[in-house]
Amino acid sequence: MERALITGVAGFIGSHLAAGLLRQGWSVTGLDSRSPASDPVAAENLAAVGGDPRFHFVAADVTGGDLAIFCEGVQAVFHLAALAGVRRSWGDRFGDYLSCNVLGTQRLLEACAATDVPRLVFASSSSAYGPGTGKPSREDDPPLPLSPYGVSKLAAERLCLAYASQRGAATSVVALRYFTVYGPRQRPDMAFSRLMRAALSGRAMSLYGTGAQRRDFTYVSDAVAATIAAATADVRAEVVNVASGRSVPLSDARRAIARLAGTDIPAQRRVAQPGDVEATTADLAKASELLGYQPAVELEEGLRGQWEWLAAKDDQAAVALTEATA
Ligand SMILES: NC(=O)c1ccc[n+]([C@@H]2O[C@H](COP(=O)([O-])OP(=O)(O)OC[C@H]3O[C@@H](n4cnc5c(N)ncnc54)[C@H](O)[C@@H]3O)[C@@H](O)[C@H]2O)c1
Repeated sequence: MERALITGVAGFIGSHLAAGLLRQGWSVTGLDSRSPASDPVAAENLAAVGGDPRFHFVAADVTGGDLAIFCEGVQAVFHLAALAGVRRSWGDRFGDYLSCNVLGTQRLLEACAATDVPRLVFASSSSAYGPGTGKPSREDDPPLPLSPYGVSKLAAERLCLAYASQRGAATSVVALRYFTVYGPRQRPDMAFSRLMRAALSGRAMSLYGTGAQRRDFTYVSDAVAATIAAATADVRAEVVNVASGRSVPLSDARRAIARLAGTDIPAQRRVAQPGDVEATTADLAKASELLGYQPAVELEEGLRGQWEWLAAKDDQAAVALTEATA
């Protein structure tokens, strides 16, 4: 049986990745600084995998302590632990971003090297690109991150490539640039989560920018498929986009969510936040070639998946879903 270590397992993508690896027959050690024993979000995220005897959770922080003990005998390390989100990365919190996203990654790379882990898959971000060129972003475009968060992800990505490019390095690396991932258990600070909560509560949400900003939204099962494929891809040190390949205005997504909710979504317009880019869109040729990746979930279907998850725990969302289906 193949063994994996996932850092950030109690988070949105990490919890889906754990479930995906278990489905494919892996055993999984999941590491996170948030423990399901004390954190309700972590508990909810890990509910589906917690009872599986091949899943083992460890409460640990990538910024301190011995990480090598978790890497022993592991075929792939999936490094997702990070402080995510652009807006909070400005100001005083940057030190935390630096420590978690950059130093934490370097510590894990050392641990992988010390224990001869064959493959590290790193969760990088489309934020590394910055404003883009107007054309779908390619992995060899010059990275120009516009936010401290993007800078931290790019720095960590470069560390991964530097370690993997050393002569005789045991650990090869795939750094995946995820483009705005969504689906069940999406982080509460992300736009679709906030839009859905506003639709249910009737309380106006802050909508940054004009709504015309475009994003290449990636459904979480597509992100997981690419991530698992990256564990065994025949490469040494590569950066690869993971996206849907289709860029959609946020205002269109808002309308689609309003249709699911059967109500308008109250919103207060606010100025665009520093670090938010106008548009993201990915070129997926390299993902297709190296990972055999093809996105499978269209936006309408994916939004429905996220709303169905909400409906399972919220009566009002369930009623709206029934009416939208009738
Ligand atoms: N969600 C997206 O759209 C998106 C886009 C691009 C990149 N990413 C990257 O993908 C990864 C997962 O994102 P997510 O949306 O699931 O975020 P998330 O916040 O839901 O998950 C991150 C997890 O990492 C854990 N963590 C944070 N600091 C830690 C530390 N020092 N030690 C151990 N665990 C720690 C958190 O507790 C959390 O459970 C992140 O690296 C993020 O930067 C996400």
